[in-house]
Amino acid sequence: MSAFREDGAAALDWLASYLEDVLERPVMARVEPGEIRAALPPSPPDAAEPFAAVLRDLDEVLMPGLTHWQSPRYFAYFPSTASDPGILAELLAAGLNQVGILWRASPALQELEEVTLDWLRQLVGLPEPLHGHIEDSASSGLITALSAARAAAPDRRVVVCSEHTHSSTRKAARLLELEVRETPVDDAYALRADDLDLADACAVVATVGTTSSTAFDPVAAVADRAGEAGTWLHVDAAYAGSAAVCPELRHHFVGWERADSVGINPHKWLCVPMDCSAFFTRRPDDLRRAFSLVPEYLRVSEEVVSLSEFSSPLGRRFRALKLWAVLRCHGREGLQAIIREHVRLAALFAQWVGDEPGWELSAPYPFSLVCFRLEGSDERNQELMERVNESGEIFLSHTRLGGRFVLRLAIGNARTSESDVAFAWDVLRREAATLD
Ligand SMILES: Cc1ncc(COP(=O)(O)O)c(C=O)c1O
Repeated sequence: MSAFREDGAAALDWLASYLEDVLERPVMARVEPGEIRAALPPSPPDAAEPFAAVLRDLDEVLMPGLTHWQSPRYFAYFPSTASDPGILAELLAAGLNQVGILWRASPALQELEEVTLDWLRQLVGLPEPLHGHIEDSASSGLITALSAARAAAPDRRVVVCSEHTHSSTRKAARLLELEVRETPVDDAYALRADDLDLADACAVVATVGTTSSTAFDPVAAVADRAGEAGTWLHVDAAYAGSAAVCPELRHHFVGWERADSVGINPHKWLCVPMDCSAFFTRRPDDLRRAFSLVPEYLRVSEEVVSLSEFSSPLGRRFRALKLWAVLRCHGREGLQAIIREHVRLAALFAQWVGDEPGWELSAPYPFSLVCFRLEGSDERNQELMERVNESGEIFLSHTRLGGRFVLRLAIGNARTSESDVAFAWDVLRREAATLD
């Protein structure tokens, strides 16, 4: 057997064992800053080493420094699942090593990306015609959206959003030298459409599924106002957009079909491994106005617009392969079942919290994130989070809502079951009992 086949089989075997046993590992990495660096040789080897040495050091040196996003007991931030078809397709994409700098450089890469994005559009119930392409992240998608908005209205230099917009909106605005104008939120942490001020605004960003609490901004009302003002509407549905594969959850998204652009991260809640962020737009010509720059060496006779004309990078990875594999191997029904189960588990957890004396829910839970806290001081809640995470049994994160420190339990790993959520609740109550 060639070394490639032998090493490949060993790597796949290693990964299969890892995924089988990941539940046994402490979810959050237990290392001090610099510890992993200190365990690594400061210089590269002179002589070639076997691939087995890489696998060995992955186990012995790097493993303690890994936080296990693939663990069913990972509840921090927004979880991400690399499902089996996504992992295998990612391996194939690495082996094929397509570099999509223009259509001719990989016609299949471009056309599969166009088709899979149209499949995703159909799955989430967005209308035609929408142009879709894949970005590495929702943050890059924000830069794309705001660049197009600025190119479409160069005299307007303001971006409007809620105070709960993801920091990527502010970062994109900063890079593009646009001013950010925040709109206040209501009791459910959603943007107040009545308070929108779109004067001089080239763009307004509405979020469905905010990062802090998964609040959903009133997209239809924002779309009305954006339409009147001629302002570009970007809907950031990086986390929650995947939930729109379930028709019964689409009421949270009403109005996004009128957005100028929409971002959804299949690498968050749709079982696609990092990285894969879908970007849809009704105004592809405005994206091209901002980004199209075709140098002589890329000019060809084919009359095809390459995907590199719609955003910043020239070369693109074959990301569509893993999205295609996941959509095919799970199917609409498989993906719906996963999302529905997560939404059910979040409601169940919220019920346990709500019923337990001494605990309180901190925000509505329209999707699969529950924000909650122990009654009492912020310090008590922070100490609880630290103890729970240090136990290694589960991993969760926090936010601030209404100025208070709040715990977030985000359910989104496809391997998470009811027993994992019940386990998390047991760990939380056990650690809370040791606080006073
Ligand atoms: C609502 C929202 N928008 C944007 C982002 C940024 O995502 P990315 O890491 O893909 O840039 C996040 C990340 O969690 C998010 O929750």
